Amino acid sequence: MIYSTVLKAALLAAAAQAAVIPSSSPSGLRVRQIGNGQDVVTWDKYSFYVDGERVMIYSGEVHPFRNPVQDLHLDILQKVKALGFNAVSVYIHWGLVEYERGKFNWDGVFDLQPFFDAAKAAGLWVIVRPGPYINGESTGGGLPGWGVRVEGQWRNSNANYTAAWEPYISSVGKIIAKNQITKGGPVILTQPENEYSAFMYPDGSLNPDEDLLYEKQLLDAFADAGIEVPTFCNDAWIGGHFLSVDVYGYDNYPAGFDCLNPITSWPDPPDYFYSSHNDVAPNTPNLIAEFQGGSFDSWGGTTFEQCYKDLGPEMVRVYNKNTYASATHLLNIYMMYGGTNWGHLSHPGGYSSYDYAAAIAEDRTLREKYYELKLQANFLMVSPAYLTSVPVDVRNLATNGSNITITELWDEVGKNQRFYILRQTKVQEFTNSKFKVDVQTSAGQITVPQLGNAVYSLPAQDSKILITDYPAGPVDILYSTLEVLTWKVIDGKTVIILYGNTGESGETAILTKTSYKVDVRSGKSSTVSSKQTSTSLTLQFVVGEQTVVALGDDILLYVVDRVNAYNFWVPDVNLKKDLPVIIKAGYLLRTATFSGNTLALTGDTNGTTVFEVIAPKSVQAYTWNGGSLDVSLTRWETQEGRYRTKTPRVDMPDLARVKWKYINSLPEISGNYDDSKWVTADNTYTPNPTKPTTPVILYASDYGFHSGNILWRGHFTASGGENLFNLTIQGGNAFGYSIWDNDKYLGSFAGSAVPSADNGSYVLTEWIKGSSHVITILQDHMGLEQSWFGGQENFKLSRGLSDYSFGGATPILKHWKVTGNLGGEKFVDWARGGLNEGGLFAVRKGYHLPGLDDSLWASKSPLKGVTGPGVEFYRATFDLNIPDGVDYPMSVDIGSSATLALRVEIYVNGWQFGKYIGNIGPQKSFPVPQGILNYKGENTIALSLWSLEDNGAALESIDLVLRSQLEGGVGTVKNSVAPDFEERPGAY
Ligand SMILES: *[C@@H]1O[C@H](CO)[C@@H](O)[C@H](O)[C@H]1NC(C)=O
Ligand SMILES: *[C@@H]1O[C@H](CO)[C@@H](O)[C@H](O)[C@H]1NC(C)=O
Repeated sequence: MIYSTVLKAALLAAAAQAAVIPSSSPSGLRVRQIGNGQDVVTWDKYSFYVDGERVMIYSGEVHPFRNPVQDLHLDILQKVKALGFNAVSVYIHWGLVEYERGKFNWDGVFDLQPFFDAAKAAGLWVIVRPGPYINGESTGGGLPGWGVRVEGQWRNSNANYTAAWEPYISSVGKIIAKNQITKGGPVILTQPENEYSAFMYPDGSLNPDEDLLYEKQLLDAFADAGIEVPTFCNDAWIGGHFLSVDVYGYDNYPAGFDCLNPITSWPDPPDYFYSSHNDVAPNTPNLIAEFQGGSFDSWGGTTFEQCYKDLGPEMVRVYNKNTYASATHLLNIYMMYGGTNWGHLSHPGGYSSYDYAAAIAEDRTLREKYYELKLQANFLMVSPAYLTSVPVDVRNLATNGSNITITELWDEVGKNQRFYILRQTKVQEFTNSKFKVDVQTSAGQITVPQLGNAVYSLPAQDSKILITDYPAGPVDILYSTLEVLTWKVIDGKTVIILYGNTGESGETAILTKTSYKVDVRSGKSSTVSSKQTSTSLTLQFVVGEQTVVALGDDILLYVVDRVNAYNFWVPDVNLKKDLPVIIKAGYLLRTATFSGNTLALTGDTNGTTVFEVIAPKSVQAYTWNGGSLDVSLTRWETQEGRYRTKTPRVDMPDLARVKWKYINSLPEISGNYDDSKWVTADNTYTPNPTKPTTPVILYASDYGFHSGNILWRGHFTASGGENLFNLTIQGGNAFGYSIWDNDKYLGSFAGSAVPSADNGSYVLTEWIKGSSHVITILQDHMGLEQSWFGGQENFKLSRGLSDYSFGGATPILKHWKVTGNLGGEKFVDWARGGLNEGGLFAVRKGYHLPGLDDSLWASKSPLKGVTGPGVEFYRATFDLNIPDGVDYPMSVDIGSSATLALRVEIYVNGWQFGKYIGNIGPQKSFPVPQGILNYKGENTIALSLWSLEDNGAALESIDLVLRSQLEGGVGTVKNSVAPDFEERPGAY
């Protein structure tokens, strides 16, 4: 996903390209391309085929590296599958798995195999996007910290860079290769690089040319690793870059990223991208590699709850449907589940949560947007003609004072069906528009709705799909102004689920010569009217909760309002499509398995759930999460049951009252502190393109430190009379630092949302000639910058001092010392990875880990806090005993006065799961998943409290919060395995 600053330019470029529709669309024969010697995943100009079957690929972006609990992947993936989606797309973060150059960590939480296995178990294909560059609001954009020391341009064919990425692509490529669909795995597509769309010369000016050699090197490296499934690209806009991949694709974020001004900031949807796509890639499907699923947020931002107000279900209705108007046949939603920037994974523009206001929240609960996506995906999955349909007309229909844009798609291959996508021309239209529509059908042009005085009704921020000549199995729907959720032929009866907005009238006509009695079995018969002719039956409904109409034994029509539509699920029974079932259930239906005569359903509930099962008669019994589900026959011959959710009460620890222990975590400022074991910062040359003025290099990454907190100690002998210390220091957006002269506090820079550097000046006293002074600087490291442009070296922007000087006199420099996490790139904790730890004393010692005997530490609560400037480290333990069979997501919520400069890193059982900055915010609630939290036994929480205040700082609140209580869940979740505390030899 791209920078918002770049986005504007991209949007403008895209808008400029949204050209007019070609006057006549070429029909042409289907040509199946054979990709790379395999014939499992192929394509033609309309869509992909998998195993010879033409498919809509509807995918959600999920980042395995943002969820370090392997057993929870299945939870997310089942939720994606339950949408009616058939794929997930993943990034892989190079910097995380090759933290030390040449040493790959594919173990434990970094092992990709459990994710691939879970995708297969859930019945999803996987699209893999391993980089080398990914962006993704992640530290370095996926590039490794050691890369900062590799000279020259990155993301082009510079040989130094080639040597850096080749081992990674070879390593990850082999893992991907053995999980390809051609080898029995789930991987169907791969994407080299990321938004390779804008490029730079070494001097930072824009280079108009992409690096074609680099692209070839990447494709060759993918092939050399054994990757044979097709490759695609994600141009940041339809700019025609990286056309050497098999299938061209692009990204699109139409609603923008303005979380402060919900909806009023939305731009009008572009007419459509189809013609631009056609200009660039006429022989391949229209592929949107990333489509807006939410938004990022940054330090000092609005929170994701606020972003969701802008980017909720309305966004999915307006903008996703606009991609269908562009005949998009691979659509990937970024993000479907964002997860957590645990262990310092974020770039400086983001914080610990990567919730993204996505359909599946960071705590894995489902938002309303999820259910809206489900309605749309299910429709597309039962509408094969959509896959060969292209836009043929777009018009602005203005009747009754309404400006409505209608895109007409026509099935070029079947030459019968049409799809009309209707939306408000102006997204800022805030009235409900009422009008009639002329549609083309096999029975000629018809103005719909036809019966009575009814009108078509389109609310503000809505969009609808109107169909004509649509076959639902044997039933020919002439047209429907109600939207189709799904249909199935079950025991010879065609069941069609239609939906609309509450209270509106909707009209559906079927072509039939049979004279049916319109038998309203459920709902008010007064809400249904009809007209039968010798060739058709037209039905009109006032949409209510649920109306069921039987037309003989042939057809069962459900008309439901949106909220009730949300409750319908269409599972692939036994992961196949051979047993047609439609199930109304509650919060989540995960799986359906048929064996013997029993249909076993699993899923999650909250509150009382009404089930309705529409299934063949071969199903005689039902189970729900292994227990029996009592059902009874409805008046329309489906099965109905009720389930009362059991969510047992649990005892939650009171973190404000548990027994907290603490130690000082800044021994560095006491007079006798010995830093001889620290790294001596004595480099006089930096490969960094930005050269400092300091006598020795004081860039943290030059010494292997890339995360958390960094400490610098400059040892000087006074010349006498030094009275000022000036420095230029960089840490990334929202960073801060504190500075001491021996044990004397000089001051702090508390930071604010944007500044990533500071020029500071601090008054010195008592620098008597010959006296020894140590300048200690504790600084925050907010992550490495991203390098969005090809050839750009932005990720090398330094963390540390680029300049310092003294006023009054110049002392003699003895040496500088530096530390970040213990061991730097040769980090200690293989299980939690190189980024998890920072450079604070307590963390270097491993005191954030469980199992430490802290009985000799003094007692103090973080609510008492630090009395002056400085850092203290707090630990507490608490027990959890959460029963099986439920999903109870939790978060650690902390708060302090918004004016207080306080920085906190939160460690749960040794895993860094939160970075809190009191005076900048906005995040105060830090979800911690089961598996990091031990739900059956002891937990250790550790906090570093860094007060940048003269008068100290403390938390006002700390709680472990139960965020939701669901019965069901994914099943057993094993705790992520990682070592307990052990004395660290050589730790300082
Ligand atoms: C590649 O790295 C070497 C050694 O660090 C350096 O001398 C050379 O200038 C680099 N090449 C480029 C193109 O930057
Ligand atoms: C519809 O569009 C026309 C032309 O852009 C404009 O003059 C008119 O005011 C619009 N009507 C409404 C109701 O927005």
